[in-house]
Amino acid sequence: MTSQKISRVGVVGAGQMGAGIAEVCARAQVDVLVHEATRDRLAAGRSRILGSLDRGVSSGKLTERERDQATARLRFTCDLGDFADRDLVVESVVEDEAVKVEIFTRLDEVVADPAAILASNTSSIPIRTLGAATRDPARVIGLHFFNPVPVLPLVELVTIPETAPGVAARAESFAHDVLGKQVIYSADRSGFVVNALLVPYLLSAIRMVESGFATVEDVDKAMVLGCAHPMGPLKLADMVGLDTIKVIAERMNEEFGESLYAPPALLTQMVESGRLGKKAGRGFYEYE
Ligand code: CAA
Repeated sequence: MTSQKISRVGVVGAGQMGAGIAEVCARAQVDVLVHEATRDRLAAGRSRILGSLDRGVSSGKLTERERDQATARLRFTCDLGDFADRDLVVESVVEDEAVKVEIFTRLDEVVADPAAILASNTSSIPIRTLGAATRDPARVIGLHFFNPVPVLPLVELVTIPETAPGVAARAESFAHDVLGKQVIYSADRSGFVVNALLVPYLLSAIRMVESGFATVEDVDKAMVLGCAHPMGPLKLADMVGLDTIKVIAERMNEEFGESLYAPPALLTQMVESGRLGKKAGRGFYEYE
């Protein structure tokens, strides 16, 4: 394993997490190639990233020149074959094991440098499963960012027994020194550290509303005013996406077998009726 610098990053998936990861990499002067499966999704991802960079300018966090430089470092493709020269690829697609396994198998074939790192931004799918989808799990890790990625400074780093010595150190140094993030290490357990603590809390808040214990507004007000959280659990659930929370809860319930993690009926009903949270314009709250 070389100690080569990571200067060419690939991001697979340009939803809210992938777009955020691509944005922070481009702002950190790294060359970024973003992949989406279809032209429409690629165009939506591009607008998401460029819109966020524009908001950075209007809020005074970026100069126009910095925005333009970041934009010039971003390229977009629908062909994973274009990832051959990447030093690090961060997969950030939907939380679906079969989809992620297929992407890791393909990345393993395409990304040419054996020292390149293949990382997943999954919250709940075992990194060992993704490693097993490749011929060379030595270069596979979990690199888990938090939403909104440009704001939250944490990255969880997850290795598997097969991860080669030096891979975690290179990824940590990239996340810390280049992206300016703080890194913690977690075992390869569903939810890692943050979601293993956060998801049962969000599910408890949903159960409170479901049982009539308190209203959505009052549960949120309680945690903002009573515990100084930046936002209440139901607003946060809307921001993360109720479909994503449901999938993470199911995976954690499967792994730990504790009812604490079982998705409440209200969550399932909301997902089934398309109330997915902020991205769908409706969840526990309505959005413009
Ligand atoms: N991109 C860039 N900057 C953003 C942003 C975005 N999407 N959203 C907010 N910001 C910036 C704002 O510009 C603002 O910056 P300044 O303070 O420098 O002006 C700052 O963040 C605060 O934003 P706002 O004033 O608009 O709103 P706020 O004070 O209510 O903060 C928040 C919004 C940052 C989202 C804050 O409420 C927060 O941190 N909430 C908790 C988020 C959280 O817990 N995330 C983890 C979710 S779990 C997860 O991601 C992992 C998983 O696997 C599910």
